[in-house]
Amino acid sequence: MRSFARLLRTREWTNGTFARSFTGWGGIVSCEWQDGEMTVPLIELNDGNSIPQLGFGVFKVDPEETERIVSDALEVGYRHLDTAMIYGNEQGVGNAIKASGIPREEIFITTKLWNSDQGTDSARDAMDLSLEKLGLDYVDLYLIHWPRPDLDRYLETWLTMEEIKAEGKTRSIGVSNFHRPHLEKILAGSETVPAVNQIELHPAFAQRDLRAYGAELGMRIEAWGPLGQGKYDLFGETALKTAAATHDVSPAQVAIRWHLQNGIIVFPKSNSRERMAENFDVFGFELSADEMASIDAIDRDQRVGSNPDEATF
Ligand SMILES: NC(=O)c1ccc[n+]([C@@H]2O[C@H](COP(=O)([O-])OP(=O)(O)OC[C@H]3O[C@@H](n4cnc5c(N)ncnc54)[C@H](OP(=O)(O)O)[C@@H]3O)[C@@H](O)[C@H]2O)c1
Repeated sequence: MRSFARLLRTREWTNGTFARSFTGWGGIVSCEWQDGEMTVPLIELNDGNSIPQLGFGVFKVDPEETERIVSDALEVGYRHLDTAMIYGNEQGVGNAIKASGIPREEIFITTKLWNSDQGTDSARDAMDLSLEKLGLDYVDLYLIHWPRPDLDRYLETWLTMEEIKAEGKTRSIGVSNFHRPHLEKILAGSETVPAVNQIELHPAFAQRDLRAYGAELGMRIEAWGPLGQGKYDLFGETALKTAAATHDVSPAQVAIRWHLQNGIIVFPKSNSRERMAENFDVFGFELSADEMASIDAIDRDQRVGSNPDEATF
């Protein structure tokens, strides 16, 4: 296992660093360099804003534990947090941000509109409630959590998201769990291409078609469940184990690196400070084209979560 000492130097990734542009990893990104080493890349979104490509997710993080766990993540160096109204832990996320003393503009915060809040007035109220719980004036990214096509309210909701953005309550807007027909409907009925689509994505469920469609639209892809949520033996896959041994890293680090090198935005969750540090320490090695191809070959259309076309929660 590689040492985590370098994390101490990457902790303040926006301070004392300079941005550099380069092409690769699926698009033009800028990244931070510090002491000659690359840290978390910044990816440009289609509205001109930027997002740190690696973040920290808090799905299933106990609200009672959230402040402590997110404080650990911020100390480790994460500056991109992914929460949602339905996780019930926005308050803990906000408390950790406040307690950290890190300037607001140095942290990228995403939250999501829950399904029962779709609709014009309810979406507005939900945004205000999320901001109140987070203790913030704005979030960086606000997402429609699931399309819920059976409700047929996601276009109306999207038009409200455009207004919420114009009012400055969120810097960027996007969607989550949207399939191509859902995207086509909002593209036909609105002025805005979502900045991101946050979808289930991991080596056994690589979502090639939605990734290609996102690239066509200039819409970034974010992976949820990048480690398969621990629901299948991703770390036992030969391709990951072999690459991990070659680079003296863990299979989890290889999985995260595969997402990064594919240009995907990723925010693994961990309650353990040691594992969150491990997941952040992924900039000191590079997977070869052959290693990437052998991980690509794991894809077998294996979902671990719900199908957005059928979800009715
Ligand atoms: N938009 C959506 O519908 C949606 C749905 C699900 C998730 N998300 C977002 O995506 C984020 C990430 O997805 P996720 O939390 O569902 O799943 P995940 O990140 O794929 O997996 C988390 C699981 O992996 C374990 N783990 C983390 N790092 C590890 C390591 N280095 N070695 C071994 N095990 C490790 C964690 O256990 P420990 O905690 O014990 O380390 C936890 O059980 C969420 O937190 C959330 O922000 C969005």
